[in-house]
Amino acid sequence: MNKRTLLLLLACTTVTVYAQKGKKSKVVIKPRTEFVTELMGKMTVDEKIAQLVQFTADGTVTGPKSGSNFINEIKKGNVGSILNATNVQYTRQIQEVNLANSRLKIPLLFGYDVIHGYRTIFPITLGETASWDLNIARIASEVAAAEAAASGVHWTFAPMVDISRDPRWGRVSEGAGEDTYLGSKMAFARVKGFQGNSLKDLNTILACTKHFAAYGAAEAGRDYNTVDMSERLLRETYLPPFKATVDAGVATFMTSFNEIAGVPSTGNKWLVNNILKGEWGFKGFVVTDYTGINEMIPHGYAKDEQHAGELALTAGVDMDMVGAVFLKYTKKNLEEGKVTQAEIDDACRRILEAKYDLGLFEDPYRYNDAKREKETIYKKEFLDAALNAANKSMVLLKNSNNVLPLKKEQKVAFVGPLVSDEYNIIGSWAATGDRNGYAVSVQEGINKFITDKSKVSFNKGVEIKDTKRDNIQAALKAAANADVIVAVMGEFENQTGEAASQVDINLPGIQKEFLAELKKLGKPVVLVLMNGRPLTLGWESENMDAILEAWFPGTMGGDAIAQTLYGVNNPSGKLPMTFPRSVGQVPIYYNHKNTGRPYLGASDPEQKYKSRYTDSDNSPLYEFGYGLSYTTFSYGNLKLSTQKLSPNGKLKVSVDVKNTGNFDGEEVVQLYVKDVVGSVTRPVRELKGFNKTLIKKGETKTIEFELSPDDLRFYNIDMKFVAEPGDFEVFVGGSSNADLKSTFELVK
Ligand code: NOJ
Repeated sequence: MNKRTLLLLLACTTVTVYAQKGKKSKVVIKPRTEFVTELMGKMTVDEKIAQLVQFTADGTVTGPKSGSNFINEIKKGNVGSILNATNVQYTRQIQEVNLANSRLKIPLLFGYDVIHGYRTIFPITLGETASWDLNIARIASEVAAAEAAASGVHWTFAPMVDISRDPRWGRVSEGAGEDTYLGSKMAFARVKGFQGNSLKDLNTILACTKHFAAYGAAEAGRDYNTVDMSERLLRETYLPPFKATVDAGVATFMTSFNEIAGVPSTGNKWLVNNILKGEWGFKGFVVTDYTGINEMIPHGYAKDEQHAGELALTAGVDMDMVGAVFLKYTKKNLEEGKVTQAEIDDACRRILEAKYDLGLFEDPYRYNDAKREKETIYKKEFLDAALNAANKSMVLLKNSNNVLPLKKEQKVAFVGPLVSDEYNIIGSWAATGDRNGYAVSVQEGINKFITDKSKVSFNKGVEIKDTKRDNIQAALKAAANADVIVAVMGEFENQTGEAASQVDINLPGIQKEFLAELKKLGKPVVLVLMNGRPLTLGWESENMDAILEAWFPGTMGGDAIAQTLYGVNNPSGKLPMTFPRSVGQVPIYYNHKNTGRPYLGASDPEQKYKSRYTDSDNSPLYEFGYGLSYTTFSYGNLKLSTQKLSPNGKLKVSVDVKNTGNFDGEEVVQLYVKDVVGSVTRPVRELKGFNKTLIKKGETKTIEFELSPDDLRFYNIDMKFVAEPGDFEVFVGGSSNADLKSTFELVK
């Protein structure tokens, strides 16, 4: 035995002893490549394949029943990772079973959907994105990681970075909305938040970018449905947020359920091997979505499980979530020459490297400290951060006659199905967030805030979907005695999230009918909304005096809503997704193409032969980037540092933004660019920069952006990613309708 081998054996022995006893002494192991190479040198094919296998512990159910007994599989040494098991004790028990049965003492990796918080729940991702605040996104992910890591979780299946232009798709709640630029920035920030500076740190976890790719473009907004699109659209609009996470150093990726142009992502070599691992140089590992390999059979892409396993592994997939196909068929596929040893080794190596990065070989129980778990969960500073995020995510859609903010002297009737709700308020995919207890309802939030209880009353009136009318009269009576009515309404939390697509995106049940009754009382009516998708609010926007979009604001939601209604928080959120007038306009998004017959609206001299609806305006109800404040802002003095941008040059855009109202307030200043003529047509405008800034009452701030030719690139007629010389228009303002405009030319 040479010295090197002996040393390795000793190192492994130390790790083994540690693993069994969970001692606290520091174990020094070899550098990653060396360690993993030597470990793999000792592994049998079966042991390597086991690393590629993930089973669910079903602690949380996030997919169809698997029928597998995960503990038995662990005992047989068949498992590399477990999902849906949480808390230090339970994950420790499972790990103990694993280490007692793993010949080489290879620790399990525990994955879980930590989407917008683990215990302390932040606003749903779509809401958090409405903050347009990258710090908020990073901090929310940091807090989620700290709590999850303290609770035995090593790996989150987030961020979800699917661009979507279709509010029927329930999963829009989990993502950053419709825009590629905003979505990419948010995706980057979220990965940095989850993974921190080092995965070795005990408050960080592996992130997983999902769902690769174009899952948000499911036809007709129906979950899991087919996607077909040009490579140009895919690369320009849907892929950049994924690429942004690779740039942020994301550790893992998840393939999507959908097919793209006839090829399910789980078996898509072009997507996984060529683009992700090749072009982008992704070094982490790729997990399927839940039974994604098996689903290639009903897709009509694989003839049986063995074939599906071959397609997935050769496409570049490294880990099989729940489906057990890799476990059952990889060795057979190897023996029959359908997959190679190199493919198995590559997948195994990537997974072992992730375990190494987390420090699991040094101490497989380093995330299993009950004291740390207790001290970390629901920390005061985490709750404060969640409150701040909820405040920043509120979008004020309407505020006639400044009915908001409310005054403490006013008598206010709070009504509506979500007025005392602690369950829905934290939204879907809320991990282990406490739905009754820690979550602050609107009623609680208001009660903390208003000491004179004669000024407030709380009555549900109606339910979310149920059409019972028994409680309407009591609520109307209270409302009739008030100066202002606040109706807290919206959706059930599970109306959005996975498998929650809808054809109707109106306020559910008889909520609108109840609003009409309230309006008849002749008092100002404020509608506070909790929902996970853009809703169709045509009637509400005409008939309500004010509308506050609160999304599902999380654990501290009730406090945030109270603070916003009473003006302690001045709303500063902007919509990350277009709100249509009606579902018939979907898909609707701001960066559409112009067409050859663009409709100019009511003043268009040609009304018939135009790209328009005959029964609706083309325009959305509330456009992307829109959101009001209790103050007002005016924009002026738009300046470009040059009218001619050279290929290596930079262009500075500056604008003066004045707070012209009566409150200090934050504004999201947005920069849009239009490429006037291209070798392929370009969108009417595209977001290229934003800056959220506090502007004091009466103050004027000059906001600067910088553009370079790189920001103007797109896939030209030859599918080259280039900026084409020619004319550009620049728009700056407080929404995607920004009309302050200037022009420049990109010269050769
Ligand atoms: C299915 C979902 O599509 C995915 O987002 C999630 O991470 C997995 N199930 C695991 O729960």
